[in-house]
Amino acid sequence: MRNIVLVGFMGAGKTTVGKILASKISYKLYSTDKLIAGKENASIASIFEQRGERYFRHIEHQVVKELASKNGGCIIDCGGGIVENKDNMRILKEYGAIVWLKCSLQDINRRIDGEGRPLFQQGGNAVKELYKRRTHLYQKWADYTVDAEEGPLEVAEQILSQVN
Ligand code: S3P
Repeated sequence: MRNIVLVGFMGAGKTTVGKILASKISYKLYSTDKLIAGKENASIASIFEQRGERYFRHIEHQVVKELASKNGGCIIDCGGGIVENKDNMRILKEYGAIVWLKCSLQDINRRIDGEGRPLFQQGGNAVKELYKRRTHLYQKWADYTVDAEEGPLEVAEQILSQVN
C-alpha cells in the first residue's frame, strides 16, 4: 500500500484515525504538528502567539520537505492548514495517497472547543470562512475522500478499503 497522507479540517479526527491505521498496517506515523513542536521546542499555540502564523507555516513547509525524504510505509497526520501552501500539496501528492477526512462544520463544532488551536479560537465568521475556503482546497487535492462523521474505526476501515 502507498504512503497515506491524512488531510482535513481541525477536529476531523486525523490524529485518532492515523493512530488506528498505523497500528493496523504497521506503518510509521508522523504528525506535522508534533514535528513542528519538537523542532521549536514549543507548543503550537505558543508558536502562533510568539512568532505568528507566517512563521508556523514556514516551519510546517520545512517539515513537509523532510518527511518527503522518508522511505515508504508511512502515514502523515497533517495539520489542517497544510493545504494553504500548494508546494506542500505537490510534494505530498507525489509522496502518497491524499485522503481527505470530510466532516461538517457542525460536527467539528461539537467535537472540539478550540483549545490549543489558535485558528479555531478566532471570533465572528472567521472559522466558517476558513472552513469554506479550505473545503475547496481539500477537494482539489484529495485522491480519496472518506466520511469522517463516522467513528474513527469505521473511518480507518474506509481508508483501508479505498487506498491501494
Ligand atoms: C491548523 C490546524 C492545527 C495546527 C495549527 C493550524 C490549521 O492542526 O496545525 O493549529 O491551520 O487548520 P489540526 O488540524 O491537527 O488541529
